[in-house]
Amino acid sequence: MNLLIMGPPGAGKGTQAEVLVKELDITHISTGDMFRNAIKEGTEMGRKAKEYMDKGELVPDEVVIGMVRDRLSQPDCRKGFLLDGFPRTVEQAKALDSTLDSMGIKLDGVVNIVVPLEKLMARLTGRRVCKGCGASYHVLFNPPQAEGKCNACGGELYQRTDDNEESVGTRLKAYEEKTQPLIDYYENKGILLNINGDQEIKKVLEDILKTLKK
Ligand code: AP5
Ligand code: MG
Ligand code: ZN
Repeated sequence: MNLLIMGPPGAGKGTQAEVLVKELDITHISTGDMFRNAIKEGTEMGRKAKEYMDKGELVPDEVVIGMVRDRLSQPDCRKGFLLDGFPRTVEQAKALDSTLDSMGIKLDGVVNIVVPLEKLMARLTGRRVCKGCGASYHVLFNPPQAEGKCNACGGELYQRTDDNEESVGTRLKAYEEKTQPLIDYYENKGILLNINGDQEIKKVLEDILKTLKK
């Protein structure tokens, strides 16, 4: 199965993707995680991306599109993939269409996680992420079993540099202006699957799996 998961910052894309890719045995491709890895490795692309990310702005299309094209051509994507955080602009969506066309692949569905925007600030400022495996936790809504430690791998939890009020404000604005139009784009293609993301994490997962089975 070849899927997209979209939704505003903090909607729960990463949280759901982590479990979904295991359930469906497909490859998770998160452009945000790819950029954060590039920053950690100190590459030129990472250095450039960091300037945008820390402020909460989108990284320029040409950088992201090239990176995703390379990633999709790797063998582990043949069994199916879940793209998380890409596309984020109409330009990126068109580039994805032509890349998939040229590979003879089609998108099976676009999972759109819907959460009222006023709930997202609390989700993001309380988020903690594992340094080891990237799993997301929340100090109130999804705390780890041992404080500051990842349940899955025991890694240390940290706070993302863009999870502060100012950057979150910019990210939400970027979402509304640039990414929201993609909802119509995929609705028109008949592959949009709206999921209520304003309920317990487990319930959201159940709804996604139920909808995908239909
Ligand atoms: P990215 O890493 O993709 O960030 P984002 O889109 O802002 O989304 P988040 O990862 O913040 O949210 P999420 O939906 O994954 O939420 P999560 O599951 O963690 O991108 C970061 C930056 O990289 C961008 O700003 C941009 O600069 C750049 N970038 C990346 N892709 C790009 C692209 N294609 N083009 C241009 N630039 C790009 O959950 C959030 C919190 O809520 C957690 O604490 C979690 O525990 C909690 N939570 C989850 N679900 C629930 C629930 N149901 N109830 C209560 N709490 C919940
Ligand atoms: Mg994420
Ligand atoms: Zn971990």
